[in-house]
Amino acid sequence: MNLAVIGTQWGDEGKGKIVDTLAKNRKIKAVVRYQGGNNAGHTVVVKGEKHAFHLIPSGILYQDKTCVIGNGVIIDPEVLAGEIKTLENRVNKNHARILISEKCHLIMAWHKVRDGIEGGKIGTTGRGIGPTYEDVMGRRGIRMIDTNDKKRLIQRVKEELVWNKKLIKLMGGKFDLSGTEIVNRCWQWLSQIKKNPLVRIGDVTEFLSEVEKKKGEIIFEGAQATLLDISHGTYPFVTSSNPTIGGLYTGSGWRPRELKVIGVVKAYTTRVGAGPFPTELLNKTGDRLREVGDEYGTTTGRPRRCGWLDATIIKYAAAVNGLDALVMTKLDVLTGIKRIKIKTGPKFTVDLERLEKAKMVYEELPGWQEDITKVRQFSRLPKSAREYINRVEQLTGLPIELIGVGPGREQIITRHAPGKVGYRN
Ligand code: IMP
Repeated sequence: MNLAVIGTQWGDEGKGKIVDTLAKNRKIKAVVRYQGGNNAGHTVVVKGEKHAFHLIPSGILYQDKTCVIGNGVIIDPEVLAGEIKTLENRVNKNHARILISEKCHLIMAWHKVRDGIEGGKIGTTGRGIGPTYEDVMGRRGIRMIDTNDKKRLIQRVKEELVWNKKLIKLMGGKFDLSGTEIVNRCWQWLSQIKKNPLVRIGDVTEFLSEVEKKKGEIIFEGAQATLLDISHGTYPFVTSSNPTIGGLYTGSGWRPRELKVIGVVKAYTTRVGAGPFPTELLNKTGDRLREVGDEYGTTTGRPRRCGWLDATIIKYAAAVNGLDALVMTKLDVLTGIKRIKIKTGPKFTVDLERLEKAKMVYEELPGWQEDITKVRQFSRLPKSAREYINRVEQLTGLPIELIGVGPGREQIITRHAPGKVGYRN
């Protein structure tokens, strides 16, 4: 069964680890990213070696897979070249094949400058994400295809540079790089990317159709999450792509015949950047979640805002994405809290004014004190932890099939073989 793994909250739910775990299945032949850029981030720890990736899909360390960067992803060539170099420098040099869509747009130096000027009010990651997608829609983007020969790239940079210099000046900023400097740097990074024998730039639709023909299975890895979605999130405090299910189709150029959609939910809620956060805890419990959960951004290092689980947003994410099941991560972080709260009402709304005025309704559940990081069976969890999971299932109407109880690859409780839909307690 093909799987889509999508964040249900404001990102950082631990999707990378879940994708990495699910990708272990030998039937999975490809892991596909379909939106976002290097605003995302995930860390993979294998045999003590820690690897942080922002652009390359999870599952990169499995040699039998292909990691696909779909057309909906925007690429900073400097970052991609750096990640490929990291892979080449590892003790074990083998890694998955990488297929990059020729339709991917590039994040250029001017996009980062523009993000630096206008991204502050949203608290963006400053990686040039919003301005690059603006140019995609404005039909001003530079694509991978444009880098097939240097002359073509020179021409495209020349055309876009004029407009960007004017725009940045109008925005009150400064852009000093010359076209030659931009092209030369870009060319160097692209050459580094293209010379790796495991990297190919090509047609993703064709590749995924081949995988399907050979009965291979595919994981689609969402970056960011439902409430950061440009169309369905807490606009304007959102990212500029579609992490929700629709983004999978437009961002990969592929319609999987069979697809199970899995929502990843952290046992509590976090958010980075500005915007509404109804269950935010600006007290010791919030600080505790941040410290125990190590809630600091993988990309920017910023401390994340922390709060209780909000069942109303999970229900919303379930509806928007047509979720079939949930995976809960970081349950262990709640250990030691005496009383745990879940927000159960009112219904979530993207009308931020109404959301702000709404009176929150919480349910309180007993916590647990026992260390659960070594538990691998649901029945071995403390009663209160099981009750917490059961209650979230009841509130959302979805089965929780995997439960994360620590950062390690093996710290997962499997309640049902991934791939089956409709597990009930
Ligand atoms: P941008 O994606 O850099 O434009 O940032 C827009 C908003 O999305 C900001 O609030 C960021 O903090 C947030 N954001 C972007 N990527 C991530 C992510 O991977 N995890 C959590 N928040 C993110």
